Amino acid sequence: MMLIDNNTQVAVCYTDEGDKAALQQLANQLGLRFYHSLAAQPTEAFLLTYRDNCLKLLDKQLLKKGGLMVEIEPRAGEQRSFPAPKQGALAQALGKSKTVVDATTGWGQDSLYMFRMGYQMQCIERSPVMAALLHDGFNRLAQCAWVQSLNLAVPQLLVGDAIAILTGLTTKPDCIYLDPMFPPKPKKSALAKKPLQILHDLVGYDTDKEQLFNCALQATGKRVIVKSPDYAKPLGEKPSESFQGKLVRYDVYQV
Ligand SMILES: C[S@@+](CC[C@H](N)C(=O)[O-])C[C@H]1O[C@@H](n2cnc3c(N)ncnc32)[C@H](O)[C@@H]1O
Repeated sequence: MMLIDNNTQVAVCYTDEGDKAALQQLANQLGLRFYHSLAAQPTEAFLLTYRDNCLKLLDKQLLKKGGLMVEIEPRAGEQRSFPAPKQGALAQALGKSKTVVDATTGWGQDSLYMFRMGYQMQCIERSPVMAALLHDGFNRLAQCAWVQSLNLAVPQLLVGDAIAILTGLTTKPDCIYLDPMFPPKPKKSALAKKPLQILHDLVGYDTDKEQLFNCALQATGKRVIVKSPDYAKPLGEKPSESFQGKLVRYDVYQV
């Protein structure tokens, strides 16, 4: 099931923080219902709102939990120098790439990790709700003192279907990175992490991933990387190389 955005589930709500007019404008832009306060008792399952100077997606059933935003801080254990060392399965899969297009950006965690390792990033996302959250996250990143002092260009966000955007690229990137939503493991498995569960509720599974993969092979300059759960079959035929991470696999297709 591919939903792009399950709009009936999402609304924008002002919760006494941030710029109310900007939120109202966001609701108009996304074609979502706007609530002036929580007292209006929104019926939608998810609410976009400002909290702690971030645009956040609140799960209405977990209002007290604070919601999810695009996290721009390095992951636990990641070195804070820039660029962070290129180590681990993803860096191995990227090889000597310099320019990377992440065609399935989602919460931006893989993109931001690649950015911190020094790759030049362009990020595509087709869910308008996720794109709004990414826009806010990349703006916050651009305001960080370390980003400003090093004069870094933050990832560029392109909103729309990657199949169309990749087809129209004028310069081929060294690498196109794909991390589509896979259905869960058929057998009983541990629950996916909360941000991914929520993303799944919002956008469903990406049923057009084979088409996206074929398009990426045409549009890349050197390689395509597909991140898959370790139980999933490779998207293409035999990958040129595979690198095993924690519960995930990075399949590399060189062109
Ligand atoms: C599993 S999530 C990616 C998670 C991401 N790697 C991260 O670190 O947060 C997949 C995302 O890709 C997006 N997506 C899937 N197919 C797409 C396409 N053809 N064009 C643009 N976005 C797409 C979905 O909307 C979803 O947000």
